Amino acid sequence: MKLWAGRFQKETDTLVNDFNSSIGFDARLYRQDIRGSIAHATMLGKQGIIDPSEAEKIIQGLQAILADIEAGSVEFSMDNEDIHMNIEAMLTERVGDAGKRLHTARSRNDQVATDFRLFVKEEIPVVIGQLVALEQVLVRKAKANVSTVMPGYTHMQRAQPTTFGHFMMAYANMIRRDITRLEDCMERMDECPLGAGALATSTYPVDRFATAEALGFQRPMDNSMDAVSDRDYAIELLSDLSILMMHLSRFSEEIILWCSWEFQFVELDDAYSTGSSIMPQKKNPDVAELVRGKTGRVYGSLISLLTVMKGLPLAYNKDMQEDKEPVFDAFDTVEICVPVFTAMLDTLTVKPRNMARAASGGFINATDCADYLTRKGMPFREAYMVVGRLVHMCIKVGESLDTLTLKDFRSVCALFDEDVYEALQLKACVNGRKVYGGPAEDSVKQQIARIEAFLAQRTPASASEAAAE
Ligand code: ARG
Repeated sequence: MKLWAGRFQKETDTLVNDFNSSIGFDARLYRQDIRGSIAHATMLGKQGIIDPSEAEKIIQGLQAILADIEAGSVEFSMDNEDIHMNIEAMLTERVGDAGKRLHTARSRNDQVATDFRLFVKEEIPVVIGQLVALEQVLVRKAKANVSTVMPGYTHMQRAQPTTFGHFMMAYANMIRRDITRLEDCMERMDECPLGAGALATSTYPVDRFATAEALGFQRPMDNSMDAVSDRDYAIELLSDLSILMMHLSRFSEEIILWCSWEFQFVELDDAYSTGSSIMPQKKNPDVAELVRGKTGRVYGSLISLLTVMKGLPLAYNKDMQEDKEPVFDAFDTVEICVPVFTAMLDTLTVKPRNMARAASGGFINATDCADYLTRKGMPFREAYMVVGRLVHMCIKVGESLDTLTLKDFRSVCALFDEDVYEALQLKACVNGRKVYGGPAEDSVKQQIARIEAFLAQRTPASASEAAAE
C-alpha cells in the first residue's frame, strides 16, 4: 500500500510505479539519507517536537539500517519509490510508531536536496585529491625536463622553441584552476536546505541552524523556496568537471600526437597502451583516446541538467529527480579518468633527442634571428622582413638558418656577425626567454615553485585510495 493511499481510490499503475521510481539509482544516497535523518530526528527531540526517547529509538533504528545496508543484507523495493521512502518504511517496520514520527516537519523535497548536497560535498574532495596527485606528477616531469628543448606550436606549425618542462607546467596551471574552481563550488554550496520542508518550512519550531551544523554545513540556506529548488551547485560542479575533462582531453590529444610515429616525442609504457588484434606492430594510446572520448559524457551530463532545470518554476518539480544520474555518471567518469591518466603520464618516457631534432627544423629560431638584428639597432619590422628573406633563401637551397654561411647572412643584411650562430642555438633561444612565465630554465623553476607552494596546502589522494574508488 502506498503512503498516499488515503487520498487515492486506485493502485498506482505498474508502469507508472516503475517509471516514477528512482530507487534504482538514488539508493546510492543511503549514507547521506541516514545521516540527514539522524540530524533531523536529533533536532526534533531537542526541540521537543517529538519525545526525546522516540528520537533515540529512531536514531538507533537508522544506525542499524545503515549497518545492514553496508553488510549487504538489505534489499530495496521499487514500491517504495526512492531511497527516502525505502529507509523510512524500513525504520517503521523495525521501531514501530516512533518511525512514523521521523518525517514530522520534513518533506522529501528538503530531504533529497540535503542528501544530494552532502553527496556532492563528499565527492568533490575525492576529485581534488586526485588532481593534486596529477599535479605532483606534472611537477616531477617538469623538474626532470627543464632543459629538454622541444618545438612549441601555433596552428600546429613549429613556432618557437620551448621545453617539455614548460609544457608540463602549462598543464599544471590548468589543473590548478580546476582545483580552485572545485574549491569555489564547495564554498558556495556549503549551506543546508534541511528544514525548508516542502517549500515553506513548518509550523513546528525546527532549528535549522542545529541541523546545518550537525551535518557540517556552514549555515542553513537563506530562503526555503530556493533551498528545495536550487540545483546550481550540481550545474556548477558539472561545469567544473567539464572544464577539467576538456583539459584532460586536450592533453590526451597532445599525447596521442606525441607518441605517433611521425612525432615520437614520448613513448607510453606497455602497461598503459594496447595492441591491435590484426596489426602486429601497433602500440595504441587507448587510455588517452578514452579520456578524450569520455569527455563527451561529462559535457552531456552538464547539458542534461541545464536543460532539465531551464523551464522549472518554483519550487520542487519531479523533473528534478533527473539531477542525480548525470552527477553520478560525471563523478564516476572523472574519478576513473584522472587516476588512469595520471599513471599513464607518470610512466611515459620522454625522448629528448627526437624533440631536439624536431626543434632544430622548421626555422623555430627565426624570431630569435630577428631579435638578434633588433639588438643591433634595427627596428623589429625591418628585422622581421630580413629574416623572412633568409628563410626563403634557406628553403630554396635546403639549408636552415644555423647552417648558412656568414657570407649568406651578410648578402641579405650587413649587421650579421659571427655571434649570430650563438644567438641561433636552441638552448640560447630558450634560456634567453627569462621573462616571468617563460620557458627559460629559471623561469620554469619559478613556475614549479609556485605550483609546489599551492600543493603544499593540499593533500593528494593516495594511490590506494584512487584505486579503491
Ligand atoms: N525521488 C525524489 C527526487 O529525487 C525525491 C523528492 C520527491 N518529492 C516529491 N515531492 N515527489 O527528486
